[in-house]
Amino acid sequence: MTSKTSFTNRLALVTGASRGIGRAVALALARQGAHVIITARTVGALEELDDEIRTLGGKTTLLTLDLCDGAKIDQLGPTLYQRWGKLDILIGNAGILGPLSPLNHVTEDAWKTVLDINLTANWRLIRTLDPLLKHSDAGRAVFTTSSGAASAKRAYWGPYGVSKAGLETLVKTYALEVESTPVRANLIDPGAIQTEMRAKAFPGEDPKTLPTSEDVAPLFLELAAPECTLNGRVVNFREWQNPKLKPKPKRSPPSSTRKTDASSA
Ligand SMILES: NC(=O)c1ccc[n+]([C@@H]2O[C@H](COP(=O)([O-])OP(=O)(O)OC[C@H]3O[C@@H](n4cnc5c(N)ncnc54)[C@H](OP(=O)(O)O)[C@@H]3O)[C@@H](O)[C@H]2O)c1
Repeated sequence: MTSKTSFTNRLALVTGASRGIGRAVALALARQGAHVIITARTVGALEELDDEIRTLGGKTTLLTLDLCDGAKIDQLGPTLYQRWGKLDILIGNAGILGPLSPLNHVTEDAWKTVLDINLTANWRLIRTLDPLLKHSDAGRAVFTTSSGAASAKRAYWGPYGVSKAGLETLVKTYALEVESTPVRANLIDPGAIQTEMRAKAFPGEDPKTLPTSEDVAPLFLELAAPECTLNGRVVNFREWQNPKLKPKPKRSPPSSTRKTDASSA
C-alpha cells in the first residue's frame, strides 16, 4: 500500500474506536475515504470522533456496542446486510487487560469478561460478518493481538495472554477457511503503544518514550487494503517499521538429527 491508497466507497467496521489504537485507525481509514462504522461503549467519545471525521468531510456511522453482549454482536451481520449488503473491512481491535495477578487470584467474573471481549466477541464478529466480507470484492479482517502475552512470556498476565493466544489461533484458522475466497485475515502485534491500556499495565513508564496510536495506524491500513495479499499472518509493528529487526528464519537441522514428537497434537 502507498500513502495514496484510496479507501473511497469502502465500508469498514472498527471495534474499540472510542480511544487508543482503534480511534486512530478509524480516523486514518476515514481520512482515506472509507465510510467507518465506529463502535465501542463510550457514547461521548464516539460522538467526538464522529464530529472530527465529519469535519474532515468523512463518513461515519456510530454504533454503541458492548462486546459482552453476544446477541447484539450477532445482529450486526443481518443489520449491515440490510443497509449496505457487504462489508469491506473488519478491524477487530477492542480489548481489555483484565487482572494482572496470579491465576489462583483471578475471579470467575474477571476471567469470563476478558475471554468474552478479547476472544469470544471476535469469533462472533467473524461468524456474523463473514458472509458480508465475502460479498466484498476484497474483504479484509484485521485483529489486534499481543504476541508476547500470547506466547506465555509473562507471569500474572494469564487471562489476557490466554485470550490473545486464542485470538491468534482463531484468526489463523479463519484465514485458512477463506484461503480460496477474496477475503484475507491477519493480526497485528503493535508492541508497546502509548494508550490507556499500556499506562494501566506499566504505570511507571514514561509514555512519551513509546510510539503513538497514529504511528501504528498505517499498518492497519496496509492490511485492510484490497492490494494486501498476506493471509493468516501476525505482523509485528516494529519489524514492519524496521525490517532489519525481523528474526532470521531458523534453519532446520539435518534430517538425521531431527526428532519427531509423537506426543504433540
Ligand atoms: N497499547 C498497547 O501497548 C498494546 C500492545 C499490544 C496489544 N494491544 C491491543 O490493542 C488493542 C487496542 O488497545 P489500546 O491500547 O488501544 O487500548 P485502550 O486505549 O484501552 O482502548 C480499548 C478500546 O476497547 C474498547 N472496549 C473495551 N471493552 C469493551 C467492551 N466491553 N465492548 C466494546 N468495546 C470495548 C474501549 O472502548 P469503551 O471503553 O468505550 O467501550 C476502547 O475503545 C487491544 O486489543 C489490545 O489488547 C495494545
